[in-house]
Amino acid sequence: MATIPLLLFFFLLLNSISITSFSCPLHHKQILLNFKSNFTTTFNLNQSDYDYYPFNSWSNNSDCCSWYRVGCSETSTITGLDFTDIMPSYHYPASVFFDIFTPLFHIRSLEQLVISHNRFVGEIPGDGFGNLTQLVYLDLSWNNFNGSIPYQIFRLTNLRHLDMSFNSFEGNLGPELGKLQNLERLDLSMNYLTGSIPEEIGNLTKLRSFNLQDNFFSGGIPCSIANMKDLEYVDFSRNSFSMKIPTCIGRLPNITMLVLNNNQLTGLIPSSIQNLSLSVFYLSRKCIELEVLIKLDTYNDSFRKFDTYNGKFIS
Ligand SMILES: *[C@@H]1O[C@H](CO)[C@@H](O)[C@H](O)[C@H]1NC(C)=O
Ligand SMILES: *[C@@H]1O[C@H](CO)[C@@H](O)[C@H](O)[C@H]1NC(C)=O
Ligand SMILES: *[C@@H]1O[C@H](CO)[C@@H](O)[C@H](O)[C@H]1NC(C)=O
Ligand SMILES: *[C@@H]1O[C@H](CO)[C@@H](O)[C@H](O)[C@H]1NC(C)=O
Ligand SMILES: *[C@@H]1O[C@H](CO)[C@@H](O)[C@H](O)[C@H]1NC(C)=O
Ligand SMILES: *[C@@H]1O[C@H](CO)[C@@H](O)[C@H](O)[C@H]1NC(C)=O
Ligand SMILES: *[C@@H]1O[C@H](CO)[C@@H](O)[C@H](O)[C@H]1NC(C)=O
Ligand SMILES: *[C@@H]1O[C@H](CO)[C@@H](O)[C@H](O)[C@H]1NC(C)=O
Ligand SMILES: *[C@@H]1O[C@H](CO)[C@@H](O)[C@H](O)[C@H]1NC(C)=O
Repeated sequence: MATIPLLLFFFLLLNSISITSFSCPLHHKQILLNFKSNFTTTFNLNQSDYDYYPFNSWSNNSDCCSWYRVGCSETSTITGLDFTDIMPSYHYPASVFFDIFTPLFHIRSLEQLVISHNRFVGEIPGDGFGNLTQLVYLDLSWNNFNGSIPYQIFRLTNLRHLDMSFNSFEGNLGPELGKLQNLERLDLSMNYLTGSIPEEIGNLTKLRSFNLQDNFFSGGIPCSIANMKDLEYVDFSRNSFSMKIPTCIGRLPNITMLVLNNNQLTGLIPSSIQNLSLSVFYLSRKCIELEVLIKLDTYNDSFRKFDTYNGKFIS
Protein backbone atom coordinates (compact mmCIF):
# COMPACT_ATOMS: atom_id res chain seq x y z
CA MET A 1 0.00 0.00 0.00
CA ALA A 2 2.72 2.41 0.97
CA THR A 3 4.91 1.50 -1.98
CA ILE A 4 3.43 3.87 -4.51
CA PRO A 5 3.70 7.04 -2.41
CA LEU A 6 7.14 5.90 -1.33
CA LEU A 7 8.25 5.47 -4.95
CA LEU A 8 6.72 8.81 -5.77
CA PHE A 9 8.60 10.31 -2.87
CA PHE A 10 11.89 8.87 -4.12
CA PHE A 11 11.09 10.01 -7.63
CA LEU A 12 10.49 13.56 -6.42
CA LEU A 13 13.61 13.41 -4.28
CA LEU A 14 15.74 12.24 -7.21
CA ASN A 15 14.22 14.93 -9.36
CA SER A 16 14.96 17.67 -6.90
CA ILE A 17 18.53 16.41 -6.49
CA SER A 18 19.10 16.49 -10.21
CA ILE A 19 17.58 19.95 -10.50
CA THR A 20 19.78 21.40 -7.80
CA SER A 21 22.92 19.55 -8.84
CA PHE A 22 22.62 20.59 -12.47
CA SER A 23 23.21 24.27 -11.96
CA CYS A 24 26.49 25.80 -10.99
CA PRO A 25 27.34 26.56 -7.35
CA LEU A 26 25.92 29.90 -6.23
CA HIS A 27 29.16 31.19 -4.75
CA HIS A 28 30.99 30.51 -8.01
CA LYS A 29 28.25 32.21 -9.97
CA GLN A 30 28.58 35.22 -7.68
CA ILE A 31 32.35 35.34 -8.28
CA LEU A 32 31.79 35.33 -12.05
CA LEU A 33 29.10 38.03 -11.84
CA ASN A 34 31.43 40.18 -9.74
CA PHE A 35 34.16 39.62 -12.28
CA LYS A 36 31.81 40.65 -15.08
CA SER A 37 30.81 43.83 -13.28
CA ASN A 38 34.41 44.65 -12.47
CA PHE A 39 35.42 44.01 -16.07
CA THR A 40 32.61 46.22 -17.34
CA THR A 41 33.65 49.04 -15.02
CA THR A 42 37.38 48.66 -15.70
CA PHE A 43 36.85 48.92 -19.45
CA ASN A 44 34.11 51.47 -19.11
CA LEU A 45 31.80 49.32 -21.21
CA ASN A 46 28.22 50.02 -21.97
CA GLN A 47 26.52 46.76 -22.88
CA SER A 48 24.01 48.38 -25.15
CA ASP A 49 26.53 50.18 -27.33
CA TYR A 50 29.08 47.42 -27.46
CA ASP A 51 28.50 44.93 -30.28
CA TYR A 52 30.94 42.34 -29.14
CA TYR A 53 30.44 42.22 -25.42
CA PRO A 54 32.11 39.02 -24.19
CA PHE A 55 29.79 38.44 -21.25
CA ASN A 56 26.33 39.02 -22.70
CA SER A 57 25.13 35.57 -21.71
CA TRP A 58 26.26 35.99 -18.10
CA SER A 59 23.02 36.85 -16.31
CA ASN A 60 21.96 36.24 -12.73
CA ASN A 61 18.80 34.38 -13.73
CA SER A 62 20.46 31.59 -15.70
CA ASP A 63 22.66 28.65 -14.81
CA CYS A 64 26.27 29.76 -15.16
CA CYS A 65 27.07 26.41 -16.75
CA SER A 66 25.07 27.59 -19.73
CA TRP A 67 27.09 30.77 -20.10
CA TYR A 68 29.39 31.35 -23.02
CA ARG A 69 33.08 30.99 -22.02
CA VAL A 70 32.24 28.87 -18.97
CA GLY A 71 32.75 25.12 -18.94
CA CYS A 72 31.33 22.73 -16.35
CA SER A 73 31.68 19.09 -15.47
CA GLU A 74 28.74 16.68 -15.53
CA THR A 75 28.12 17.52 -11.90
CA SER A 76 28.02 21.24 -12.71
CA THR A 77 31.23 22.31 -11.08
CA ILE A 78 33.04 24.96 -13.06
CA THR A 79 36.02 23.38 -14.78
CA GLY A 80 36.84 25.80 -17.59
CA LEU A 81 37.03 29.53 -18.23
CA ASP A 82 37.95 30.90 -21.63
CA PHE A 83 38.93 34.56 -21.73
CA THR A 84 40.44 34.54 -25.21
CA ASP A 85 40.39 37.99 -26.77
CA ILE A 86 38.02 39.61 -24.27
CA MET A 87 39.62 43.05 -24.32
CA PRO A 88 37.61 45.61 -26.22
CA SER A 89 39.49 47.00 -29.18
CA TYR A 90 38.76 50.58 -28.19
CA HIS A 91 38.37 52.79 -25.11
CA TYR A 92 40.37 50.65 -22.73
CA PRO A 93 42.69 52.06 -20.07
CA ALA A 94 46.42 52.12 -20.70
CA SER A 95 47.28 49.08 -18.64
CA VAL A 96 45.06 46.52 -16.98
CA PHE A 97 46.86 44.29 -14.51
CA PHE A 98 46.27 40.63 -13.75
CA ASP A 99 44.50 41.64 -10.50
CA ILE A 100 41.17 41.72 -12.28
CA PHE A 101 41.34 37.89 -12.42
CA THR A 102 42.36 37.24 -8.81
CA PRO A 103 38.82 36.55 -7.46
CA LEU A 104 38.70 33.61 -9.91
CA PHE A 105 41.38 31.80 -7.91
CA HIS A 106 38.62 30.82 -5.49
CA ILE A 107 37.20 28.54 -8.17
CA ARG A 108 39.56 25.75 -7.26
CA SER A 109 37.88 23.19 -9.51
CA LEU A 110 39.28 24.89 -12.62
CA GLU A 111 40.95 22.51 -15.06
CA GLN A 112 41.23 24.84 -18.03
CA LEU A 113 42.07 28.52 -17.94
CA VAL A 114 42.70 30.53 -21.08
CA ILE A 115 43.52 34.25 -21.00
CA SER A 116 45.26 34.46 -24.37
CA HIS A 117 45.22 37.21 -26.99
CA ASN A 118 44.63 40.17 -24.73
CA ARG A 119 46.84 43.00 -23.56
CA PHE A 120 46.92 42.41 -19.84
CA VAL A 121 50.12 43.50 -18.11
CA GLY A 122 52.08 42.95 -14.93
CA GLU A 123 53.24 40.01 -12.90
CA ILE A 124 51.10 36.94 -12.41
CA PRO A 125 50.34 36.00 -8.79
CA GLY A 126 52.03 32.77 -7.72
CA ASP A 127 49.88 32.27 -4.61
CA GLY A 128 46.73 32.43 -6.71
CA PHE A 129 47.92 29.86 -9.25
CA GLY A 130 49.09 27.71 -6.36
CA ASN A 131 45.37 27.28 -5.54
CA LEU A 132 44.46 25.89 -8.94
CA THR A 133 45.87 22.41 -8.39
CA GLN A 134 43.39 20.81 -10.79
CA LEU A 135 44.67 22.78 -13.78
CA VAL A 136 45.36 20.65 -16.83
CA TYR A 137 45.39 23.36 -19.46
CA LEU A 138 46.80 26.85 -18.88
CA ASP A 139 47.17 29.37 -21.68
CA LEU A 140 48.38 32.89 -20.87
CA SER A 141 49.86 33.52 -24.31
CA TRP A 142 49.78 36.81 -26.21
CA ASN A 143 49.61 39.28 -23.35
CA ASN A 144 52.23 41.46 -21.77
CA PHE A 145 52.73 39.62 -18.51
CA ASN A 146 56.17 40.15 -17.00
CA GLY A 147 58.34 39.25 -14.03
CA SER A 148 59.52 35.73 -13.44
CA ILE A 149 57.37 32.63 -13.79
CA PRO A 150 56.20 31.96 -10.21
CA TYR A 151 57.42 28.68 -8.72
CA GLN A 152 53.84 27.74 -7.85
CA ILE A 153 53.20 27.12 -11.56
CA PHE A 154 55.72 24.26 -11.39
CA ARG A 155 53.69 22.62 -8.63
CA LEU A 156 50.65 22.23 -10.85
CA THR A 157 51.57 18.65 -11.62
CA ASN A 158 48.34 17.88 -13.48
CA LEU A 159 49.28 20.31 -16.25
CA ARG A 160 49.39 18.78 -19.69
CA HIS A 161 49.43 22.00 -21.67
CA LEU A 162 51.30 25.14 -20.63
CA ASP A 163 51.47 28.09 -23.00
CA MET A 164 53.05 31.33 -21.76
CA SER A 165 54.33 32.43 -25.16
CA PHE A 166 54.32 36.01 -26.45
CA ASN A 167 54.71 37.78 -23.12
CA SER A 168 57.58 39.50 -21.29
CA PHE A 169 58.48 36.85 -18.75
CA GLU A 170 62.08 36.92 -17.56
CA GLY A 171 64.37 34.92 -15.28
CA ASN A 172 65.62 31.37 -15.34
CA LEU A 173 63.95 27.98 -15.41
CA GLY A 174 64.83 26.05 -12.26
CA PRO A 175 65.04 22.29 -11.69
CA GLU A 176 61.42 22.38 -10.44
CA LEU A 177 60.35 22.44 -14.11
CA GLY A 178 61.03 18.70 -14.04
CA LYS A 179 58.05 18.24 -11.70
CA LEU A 180 55.55 18.88 -14.48
CA GLN A 181 55.74 15.25 -15.47
CA ASN A 182 52.38 15.16 -17.23
CA LEU A 183 53.23 17.99 -19.58
CA GLU A 184 52.65 17.24 -23.25
CA ARG A 185 53.05 20.73 -24.63
CA LEU A 186 55.31 23.50 -23.30
CA ASP A 187 55.47 26.82 -25.11
CA LEU A 188 57.57 29.59 -23.57
CA SER A 189 58.51 31.20 -26.88
CA MET A 190 58.79 34.97 -27.37
CA ASN A 191 59.78 36.02 -23.86
CA TYR A 192 62.97 37.26 -22.17
CA LEU A 193 63.90 34.06 -20.36
CA THR A 194 67.57 33.45 -19.60
CA GLY A 195 69.89 30.80 -18.20
CA SER A 196 70.30 27.24 -19.30
CA ILE A 197 67.75 24.45 -19.67
CA PRO A 198 67.82 22.44 -16.44
CA GLU A 199 68.97 18.82 -16.66
CA GLU A 200 65.63 17.88 -15.03
CA ILE A 201 63.89 18.63 -18.32
CA GLY A 202 64.49 14.95 -19.08
CA ASN A 203 61.83 14.12 -16.48
CA LEU A 204 59.13 15.46 -18.76
CA THR A 205 58.83 12.14 -20.51
CA LYS A 206 55.37 12.84 -21.96
CA LEU A 207 56.35 16.06 -23.68
CA ARG A 208 55.57 16.10 -27.38
CA SER A 209 55.97 19.75 -28.25
CA PHE A 210 58.66 21.96 -26.79
CA ASN A 211 59.03 25.57 -27.91
CA LEU A 212 61.59 27.99 -26.47
CA GLN A 213 61.97 30.10 -29.60
CA ASP A 214 63.06 33.73 -29.21
CA ASN A 215 64.37 33.96 -25.67
CA PHE A 216 67.86 34.40 -24.23
CA PHE A 217 68.56 30.82 -23.21
CA SER A 218 72.23 29.88 -23.19
CA GLY A 219 74.47 26.92 -22.44
CA GLY A 220 74.32 23.54 -24.06
CA ILE A 221 71.33 21.44 -24.99
CA PRO A 222 71.16 18.91 -22.12
CA CYS A 223 71.50 15.27 -23.06
CA SER A 224 68.66 14.36 -20.72
CA ILE A 225 66.44 15.50 -23.58
CA ALA A 226 66.96 12.00 -24.96
CA ASN A 227 64.63 10.69 -22.21
CA MET A 228 61.74 12.51 -23.83
CA LYS A 229 60.82 9.70 -26.16
CA ASP A 230 57.52 11.21 -27.28
CA LEU A 231 59.07 14.48 -28.46
CA GLU A 232 57.85 15.35 -31.92
CA TYR A 233 58.50 19.05 -32.18
CA VAL A 234 61.42 21.07 -30.80
CA ASP A 235 62.05 24.74 -31.52
CA PHE A 236 65.02 26.29 -29.75
CA SER A 237 65.71 28.86 -32.46
CA ARG A 238 66.72 32.47 -31.78
CA ASN A 239 68.41 31.98 -28.44
CA SER A 240 72.05 31.86 -27.35
CA PHE A 241 72.52 28.13 -27.10
CA SER A 242 76.15 27.21 -27.52
CA MET A 243 78.38 24.15 -27.63
CA LYS A 244 77.88 21.12 -29.82
CA ILE A 245 74.54 19.57 -30.61
CA PRO A 246 74.65 16.51 -28.34
CA THR A 247 74.92 13.12 -30.03
CA CYS A 248 72.11 11.82 -27.81
CA ILE A 249 69.67 13.84 -29.87
CA GLY A 250 69.75 10.83 -32.18
CA ARG A 251 67.81 8.84 -29.60
CA LEU A 252 64.50 10.66 -30.08
CA PRO A 253 62.40 8.18 -32.06
CA ASN A 254 59.38 10.37 -32.68
CA ILE A 255 60.94 13.70 -33.52
CA THR A 256 59.92 15.15 -36.85
CA MET A 257 60.77 18.80 -36.43
CA LEU A 258 64.00 20.13 -34.98
CA VAL A 259 64.56 23.87 -35.28
CA LEU A 260 67.85 25.19 -33.94
CA ASN A 261 68.71 28.14 -36.16
CA ASN A 262 70.04 31.48 -34.87
CA ASN A 263 72.01 30.21 -31.90
CA GLN A 264 75.73 29.93 -31.23
CA LEU A 265 75.95 26.19 -31.61
CA THR A 266 79.42 25.07 -32.55
CA GLY A 267 81.13 22.00 -33.87
CA LEU A 268 79.79 19.46 -36.26
CA ILE A 269 76.33 18.02 -36.58
CA PRO A 270 76.34 14.62 -34.87
CA SER A 271 75.93 11.77 -37.28
CA SER A 272 73.17 10.39 -35.04
CA ILE A 273 70.92 12.95 -36.74
CA GLN A 274 70.72 10.40 -39.54
CA ASN A 275 68.82 8.18 -37.15
CA LEU A 276 65.90 10.60 -37.04
CA SER A 277 63.03 10.78 -39.46
CA LEU A 278 62.98 14.53 -39.55
CA SER A 279 60.68 16.36 -41.87
CA VAL A 280 61.97 19.75 -40.82
CA PHE A 281 65.46 20.51 -39.66
CA TYR A 282 66.58 24.12 -39.55
CA LEU A 283 70.01 24.86 -38.34
CA SER A 284 71.18 28.15 -39.71
CA ARG A 285 69.71 31.10 -41.40
CA LYS A 286 71.50 30.02 -44.55
CA CYS A 287 69.42 26.91 -44.93
CA ILE A 288 67.05 26.84 -47.83
CA GLU A 289 63.62 25.40 -47.67
CA LEU A 290 64.09 21.81 -48.67
CA GLU A 291 67.78 21.18 -48.53
CA VAL A 292 70.40 22.15 -46.05
CA LEU A 293 74.11 21.61 -46.17
CA ILE A 294 75.33 20.05 -43.00
CA LYS A 295 78.62 18.73 -41.93
CA LEU A 296 78.96 15.34 -40.33
CA ASP A 297 81.67 14.49 -37.86
CA THR A 298 82.05 11.00 -39.20
CA TYR A 299 82.49 12.33 -42.69
CA ASN A 300 85.02 14.83 -41.47
CA ASP A 301 85.36 17.65 -43.91
CA SER A 302 82.87 16.56 -46.48
CA PHE A 303 79.56 18.34 -46.59
CA ARG A 304 76.44 16.37 -47.30
CA LYS A 305 73.12 17.56 -48.50
CA PHE A 306 70.29 16.95 -46.08
CA ASP A 307 66.83 16.84 -47.56
CA THR A 308 64.71 18.40 -44.82
CA TYR A 309 61.53 17.43 -46.61
CA ASN A 310 62.18 13.70 -46.58
CA GLY A 311 64.55 13.81 -43.62
CA LYS A 312 67.21 11.98 -45.62
CA PHE A 313 70.72 12.69 -46.75
CA ILE A 314 70.90 13.13 -50.48
CA SER A 315 74.59 12.83 -51.21
C1 LIG B 1 24.72 53.23 -23.33
O1 LIG B 1 24.76 53.77 -24.64
C2 LIG B 1 23.50 54.10 -25.18
C3 LIG B 1 23.66 54.52 -26.63
O2 LIG B 1 24.92 55.15 -26.82
C4 LIG B 1 22.85 55.21 -24.34
O3 LIG B 1 21.57 55.53 -24.85
C5 LIG B 1 22.73 54.71 -22.91
O4 LIG B 1 22.23 55.73 -22.07
C6 LIG B 1 24.08 54.26 -22.38
N1 LIG B 1 23.88 53.65 -21.08
C7 LIG B 1 24.69 53.88 -20.04
C8 LIG B 1 24.35 53.16 -18.76
O5 LIG B 1 25.65 54.62 -20.12
C1 LIG C 1 21.77 37.24 -7.98
O1 LIG C 1 20.60 36.74 -7.38
C2 LIG C 1 20.72 36.39 -6.01
C3 LIG C 1 19.41 35.84 -5.52
O2 LIG C 1 18.81 35.06 -6.49
C4 LIG C 1 21.13 37.60 -5.20
O3 LIG C 1 21.35 37.23 -3.85
C5 LIG C 1 22.40 38.20 -5.77
O4 LIG C 1 22.74 39.41 -5.10
C6 LIG C 1 22.25 38.48 -7.25
N1 LIG C 1 23.53 38.91 -7.78
C7 LIG C 1 23.66 39.95 -8.58
C8 LIG C 1 25.03 40.26 -9.05
O5 LIG C 1 22.72 40.63 -8.92
C1 LIG D 1 38.01 44.98 -9.36
O1 LIG D 1 39.34 44.75 -9.78
C2 LIG D 1 40.30 45.54 -9.15
C3 LIG D 1 41.64 45.21 -9.75
O2 LIG D 1 41.61 45.27 -11.13
C4 LIG D 1 40.29 45.27 -7.66
O3 LIG D 1 41.19 46.16 -7.02
C5 LIG D 1 38.89 45.48 -7.11
O4 LIG D 1 38.87 45.08 -5.77
C6 LIG D 1 37.90 44.66 -7.90
N1 LIG D 1 36.56 44.95 -7.44
C7 LIG D 1 35.68 44.01 -7.20
C8 LIG D 1 34.33 44.48 -6.78
O5 LIG D 1 35.93 42.83 -7.35
C1 LIG E 1 42.94 30.08 -2.27
O1 LIG E 1 41.74 29.40 -1.93
C2 LIG E 1 41.33 29.59 -0.59
C3 LIG E 1 40.10 28.77 -0.37
O2 LIG E 1 39.12 29.01 -1.34
C4 LIG E 1 41.08 31.08 -0.33
O3 LIG E 1 40.77 31.27 1.02
C5 LIG E 1 42.34 31.87 -0.69
O4 LIG E 1 42.09 33.25 -0.55
C6 LIG E 1 42.74 31.56 -2.10
N1 LIG E 1 43.95 32.28 -2.43
C7 LIG E 1 43.99 33.16 -3.43
C8 LIG E 1 45.29 33.83 -3.63
O5 LIG E 1 43.06 33.39 -4.16
C1 LIG F 1 55.76 44.73 -15.19
O1 LIG F 1 55.00 45.65 -15.93
C2 LIG F 1 54.37 46.65 -15.14
C3 LIG F 1 53.45 47.45 -16.05
O2 LIG F 1 54.06 47.80 -17.24
C4 LIG F 1 55.44 47.50 -14.48
O3 LIG F 1 54.83 48.48 -13.68
C5 LIG F 1 56.33 46.61 -13.63
O4 LIG F 1 57.40 47.34 -13.08
C6 LIG F 1 56.87 45.45 -14.45
N1 LIG F 1 57.54 44.51 -13.57
C7 LIG F 1 58.72 43.97 -13.85
C8 LIG F 1 59.26 42.99 -12.87
O5 LIG F 1 59.34 44.26 -14.87
C1 LIG G 1 64.71 14.23 -12.59
O1 LIG G 1 65.91 14.56 -13.28
C2 LIG G 1 67.07 14.52 -12.52
C3 LIG G 1 68.22 15.00 -13.36
O2 LIG G 1 68.14 14.54 -14.68
C4 LIG G 1 67.29 13.12 -11.98
O3 LIG G 1 68.44 13.06 -11.18
C5 LIG G 1 66.06 12.71 -11.17
O4 LIG G 1 66.20 11.39 -10.76
C6 LIG G 1 64.79 12.88 -11.95
N1 LIG G 1 63.64 12.65 -11.10
C7 LIG G 1 62.63 11.88 -11.41
C8 LIG G 1 61.52 11.80 -10.43
O5 LIG G 1 62.57 11.28 -12.46
C1 LIG H 1 55.67 7.79 -30.86
O1 LIG H 1 54.52 8.02 -31.65
C2 LIG H 1 53.67 6.90 -31.76
C3 LIG H 1 52.55 7.26 -32.73
O2 LIG H 1 52.08 8.55 -32.52
C4 LIG H 1 53.16 6.51 -30.38
O3 LIG H 1 52.33 5.40 -30.46
C5 LIG H 1 54.33 6.24 -29.49
O4 LIG H 1 53.88 5.96 -28.18
C6 LIG H 1 55.30 7.41 -29.46
N1 LIG H 1 56.42 7.18 -28.59
C7 LIG H 1 57.43 6.35 -28.82
C8 LIG H 1 58.47 6.28 -27.76
O5 LIG H 1 57.51 5.70 -29.84
C1 LIG I 1 69.29 5.34 -33.11
O1 LIG I 1 67.97 5.04 -32.61
C2 LIG I 1 67.87 3.84 -31.87
C3 LIG I 1 66.43 3.66 -31.50
O2 LIG I 1 65.88 4.78 -30.88
C4 LIG I 1 68.77 3.92 -30.64
O3 LIG I 1 68.73 2.72 -29.92
C5 LIG I 1 70.21 4.21 -31.07
O4 LIG I 1 71.02 4.42 -29.93
C6 LIG I 1 70.25 5.46 -31.93
N1 LIG I 1 71.60 5.69 -32.45
C7 LIG I 1 72.27 6.80 -32.20
C8 LIG I 1 73.62 6.90 -32.83
O5 LIG I 1 71.82 7.71 -31.53
C1 LIG J 1 89.70 14.63 -40.32
O1 LIG J 1 90.51 15.48 -41.07
C2 LIG J 1 91.79 15.75 -40.50
C3 LIG J 1 92.50 16.77 -41.35
O2 LIG J 1 91.74 17.20 -42.43
C4 LIG J 1 92.57 14.45 -40.39
O3 LIG J 1 93.81 14.72 -39.75
C5 LIG J 1 91.78 13.47 -39.55
O4 LIG J 1 92.41 12.23 -39.52
C6 LIG J 1 90.38 13.27 -40.12
N1 LIG J 1 89.59 12.44 -39.23
C7 LIG J 1 88.87 11.42 -39.66
C8 LIG J 1 88.08 10.68 -38.57
O5 LIG J 1 88.80 11.09 -40.81
